Amino acid sequence: MAGDGRPIGVFDSGMGGLTVLRALAARLPQERFVYLGDTARLPYGTKSAETVQAYALQATRLLLGEGVKMVVIACNTASAVALAVLQEFWDPVPVIGVIEPGARAGVGATKNKRIAVLATEGTVKGGAYAQAIKQLMAEVHVIQQPCQVFVALAEEGWADTPATLATAAHYLEPLFQGPDAPDTLVLGCTHFPVLADAIRRTIGCGVALVDSAETTAVAVSEALTKGGLASAGEGGGPAIRFFATDSPERFARVGAIFLGRAIDEGDVELVDL
Ligand code: SIN
Repeated sequence: MAGDGRPIGVFDSGMGGLTVLRALAARLPQERFVYLGDTARLPYGTKSAETVQAYALQATRLLLGEGVKMVVIACNTASAVALAVLQEFWDPVPVIGVIEPGARAGVGATKNKRIAVLATEGTVKGGAYAQAIKQLMAEVHVIQQPCQVFVALAEEGWADTPATLATAAHYLEPLFQGPDAPDTLVLGCTHFPVLADAIRRTIGCGVALVDSAETTAVAVSEALTKGGLASAGEGGGPAIRFFATDSPERFARVGAIFLGRAIDEGDVELVDL
């Protein structure tokens, strides 16, 4: 049966969304992807909702110009403030965010119904995670902790340095003390999975550490099937095309940490939104 060979568009403020792209590519090997990192305007987490919405609209416009059949917002901040706007604006192109899948992963992991969410300032301010978690499990207690500085540490490639460990201790130790401590930590920013080792060393092995990458890939896979959009392997060109709004050299060098494999600088196209 013929499928839909058009690529899937994925965007983030920078390289963090590559952790989601990695899960997507692993789950959907027959699909092609176009990834945009808005590295010139990173971080989104400190910006107003209106600004992030405007950026997200521009990013989506570029991806649609590349002929994508679906858009994945691989950025929690943009998912938190712009998902509804994008879904309305570009109906009927499906737009999928990472908050609901992240919330689903957290709810699936907790046993004591206490979940901590570590996210950017913008994501925490909007309360999107608490809302999404409570929609799935009303009686759960959600503690949201902003940790914007982790975005800079991740983009710097400082996965396991004393600075990262000190930051993790500062933000996380107070949350995970006492009998009522959460048993689950949701990484509510797609940059944070590369800091998982430092985070794990701080919170210990008794806490479930979840991120939205895997559950987002499941949600995308389901949406492709439901919408009759899955590829049967047709469509030519590279499996992944990369766009960045600043320094392809830096995108390739640092992006490799997030994607888990080398990126050729020559494969990264500089674009202006
Ligand atoms: C940021 O740009 O501040 C981080 C992106 C995210 O929220 O995933």
